[in-house]
Amino acid sequence: MAKKPWGGRFAEATDKLVEKFTASVHFDQKLALYDIKGSIAHARMLGARGIIPKEDAEKIIAGLAELEKEIQEGKFTWREDLEDVHMNIEAALFEKIGPLAGKLHTARSRNDQVATDVRLYLRDVIDEALAALKELRLVLVLKAKENLEVIMPGFTHLQHAQPVLFAHHLMAYYEMFTRDTKRLSFVREETNVCPLGSAALAGTPFPVDREMVARELGFAGISRNSMDAVSDRDFIISFLGAASLVFVHLSRLCEELILWMSQEFSFIDLPDKLCTGSSIMPQKKNPDVAELIRGKTGRVFGNLFSLLTVLKGLPMTYNRDLQEDKEPLFDTAETLLASLRLASSLVSGLKVNAPKMRKACEEGHLTATDLADYLATKGVPFREAHHIVGKLVAYCEDKGLKLWELPLEKMKEFSEVIEKDVYDWLTLEGSVARRKVPGGTAPEMVRKAIEEAEKELMQEEK
Ligand code: ARG
Repeated sequence: MAKKPWGGRFAEATDKLVEKFTASVHFDQKLALYDIKGSIAHARMLGARGIIPKEDAEKIIAGLAELEKEIQEGKFTWREDLEDVHMNIEAALFEKIGPLAGKLHTARSRNDQVATDVRLYLRDVIDEALAALKELRLVLVLKAKENLEVIMPGFTHLQHAQPVLFAHHLMAYYEMFTRDTKRLSFVREETNVCPLGSAALAGTPFPVDREMVARELGFAGISRNSMDAVSDRDFIISFLGAASLVFVHLSRLCEELILWMSQEFSFIDLPDKLCTGSSIMPQKKNPDVAELIRGKTGRVFGNLFSLLTVLKGLPMTYNRDLQEDKEPLFDTAETLLASLRLASSLVSGLKVNAPKMRKACEEGHLTATDLADYLATKGVPFREAHHIVGKLVAYCEDKGLKLWELPLEKMKEFSEVIEKDVYDWLTLEGSVARRKVPGGTAPEMVRKAIEEAEKELMQEEK
């Protein structure tokens, strides 16, 4: 009968199917280095408090350090019959230093151990995600700066609406990813709390020093309720939620890149190295990376829902259901980091087809609102001005003309107040330049937004 660390009260060997079904080591081995880090901090504290002899603690720590090296070098053999990462490492420590290894688990349970490991792992993931988000925000700002003069059609309902600066459009994404940054920083705070010392659920009778362990692991503080600490996975939900919103933004951005690269738009081109071809159509260059980021959004949302569902209805405290937190977490973490990095490459590598964007602005009477605004400045009530311009647009549509191609006499038939100065209001440059309200698309405002973003990025130390 294979010996389990918990095998004392069992009279028969575990069913093979059960062993396979309950094992998590094939995925939770990702936590190995965090598990060792947590164990080293715990052992050091046990020694410092005299809960186990100092020499024993030192031997345990030395053994763990050797295991750490073996894992890093890929020399560690993982055994499914040992269930999870924690028991694999404990068993390997036993092989190395003998029965002394058994003292490591004093005043600890796998319940507070696994909660600690996951928090350490997630904290690192969030730091990487914040760095990747910062890079993406930076390339958006740079691309905006490089193309400050470029005018494109702004859309509502995917219909031409008003001219905007391409830079303004890019800076809208900067705003989204900046909110994501704040959200993820908040999740980091929620994550950065140490549950060790909660043991199985009720705390431990040993005189542990929880603050010391938390400090050594770089946590900002300790959890306040042992029962909550071993069953809380809210911080993972918060992360999966924050990551889902990042993906809402990434997916929207990618959707636009895909549209813009289509023959219909031809607003941009993406570098060959970020595109793929077709196995049958030799002419094809496809934006697969952008499509896949958009597509992977589905699994990221799914991961959030899977964990929400796991947690709902769980009685206090630890239940084995909680083992199901890891695969959604790992999957979202890896998908998020890869997608953010590739999104940065897409944005920094995209080539803007400014003439094409400008040409597109000729369609759809983009400055019709400007004409209505012009009438309003001449004292015509805006609703009436709207109506007059509607008639003018219908006339143009009928004759196949642009608004600015109408002679003044013709315009006057629609409204007496129209004078020669109207033509300034109908140019693309005039239209964007007049929108110098804070947050508007006027070049001076967009330049200011870019400067503020640059300052913001410089001030963030992470
Ligand atoms: N593999 C387990 C998990 O991921 C570790 C904790 C096991 N605790 C227990 N009481 N069986 O949650």
